[in-house]
Amino acid sequence: MARSVPPGDFAGTSPVWLREPSDANALVPVLWPRTATKVDGLLHVGGMSVADVVANVNTPAYLLDEEDFRTRARAFRDGFADYDVYYAGKAFLSVAVARWVAEEGLCLDVCSDGELSVALRAGVEPARIGYHGNNKSAMELRRAVHEGVGRIIVDSFHEIERVADVAAQLGVRQPVMIRVTAGVEAHTHEFIATAHEDQKFGFSISSGDAYEAAKAVLTHASLDLRGLHSHIGSQIFDTSGWEVAARRVLALHAQIANELNHAMPELDLGGGFGIAYTTQDDPAEPADLAARITAIVEAECHALRIAKPHLSIEPGRAIVGSSMFTVYTVGTVKSVTLDGGASRTYVSVDGGMSDNIRPALYDADYSATLASRSSDATPVLARVVGKHCESGDIVVKHEFLPGDVAPGDLIAVPGTGAYGRSMASNYNHALRPPVVAVKDGEYRVIVRRETEDDLLATDMG
Ligand code: LLP
Repeated sequence: MARSVPPGDFAGTSPVWLREPSDANALVPVLWPRTATKVDGLLHVGGMSVADVVANVNTPAYLLDEEDFRTRARAFRDGFADYDVYYAGKAFLSVAVARWVAEEGLCLDVCSDGELSVALRAGVEPARIGYHGNNKSAMELRRAVHEGVGRIIVDSFHEIERVADVAAQLGVRQPVMIRVTAGVEAHTHEFIATAHEDQKFGFSISSGDAYEAAKAVLTHASLDLRGLHSHIGSQIFDTSGWEVAARRVLALHAQIANELNHAMPELDLGGGFGIAYTTQDDPAEPADLAARITAIVEAECHALRIAKPHLSIEPGRAIVGSSMFTVYTVGTVKSVTLDGGASRTYVSVDGGMSDNIRPALYDADYSATLASRSSDATPVLARVVGKHCESGDIVVKHEFLPGDVAPGDLIAVPGTGAYGRSMASNYNHALRPPVVAVKDGEYRVIVRRETEDDLLATDMG
């Protein structure tokens, strides 16, 4: 029999940052879309009760607060006012979302032919699209150049030749940027300034490859070298990583201007701005980030005696991450005894690693709340798990949930907007959940739930 754990006595069974909440029903605002509230214990978003929405669309479902998404997009647009802001579609992309991005005045970063298809279907102006990828085929490049994609970020010597040929054949002078690795690896609260040359992306600055890439691009009349591009990582809170990267990238930028006599008009510093997944995260406002990053770039340009290039950034997670959450229905609950006698409550929901692979893939932390009622029961240390055939199928590793959580309850997990639906799979032949946009008391399914027919459509029998 598991002993009942006195409040606060969870040593060794949960991380130190996890605090037992004074009210397990309350929302922690930084984790949720701006319109999310609890009304008599019922989670609401976009002026709608979540229980009402899922009564129609079923669970699991991703709920996307359209107003919140647009507000975050505008905060980047206005905070980084002198920049071009490219929304990184890999975080989450659908036709509706691509349209919102364009309507809010942002550009769009795609990294595959499929993402380009969605952008074009949405009517995004090709000139406002940037195209990434370390292995774009000649066919993919031909399509991008033919459509008039505004910039292609080249990532290898092979690609430079490939895109130059395609552009020459099509009689186009294609704008390109060079993806460089600045030797900075940033993760969350830390960065390493000498690491991360050993990876597939970009041209190394320190080895001289990035300089050679600029030389190679400049030999082609069909290519227009716009600038350098550096992306240092994801879920970053500490701007010192960008500082070191900007210094190294701008030194190369100046070297290309001085030695190759080519002043590049632009510079892209990539994405990676962190969001709150749990109470331990404290993200900065876009305007603060902009002030810090701009100051770094200006100081460096001044020191190098070069004109400041036109800057761009590529936030994905920081726009869509907290705008969306996942709603699940609890199926089973069980308590297990841990070493030392404490207990952990396993709450199994009707989704899992097929709709959020991040805990299994990156050991990512999430939070959760009971969304369909309030409860006065004493909180218990809980683990929200999926219904897949793996013990690593965990949705939320550590959270306090009311001790009376039971089958039929709705559980909502915030922060799943980025790399949730976009990395979802059909593992165990799960049907991928819908994305439901909510706004002003109405909901709209913008990506429908998969059906059994979808699942079997490619199975030739
Ligand atoms: N720009 C480039 C060139 C990128 O490679 C990425 C992300 C971004 C922008 C957007 O980064 P964000 O602002 O969303 O952090 N699947 C992982 C993240 C992979 C990110 C890959 N590149 C995750 O779920 O954490």
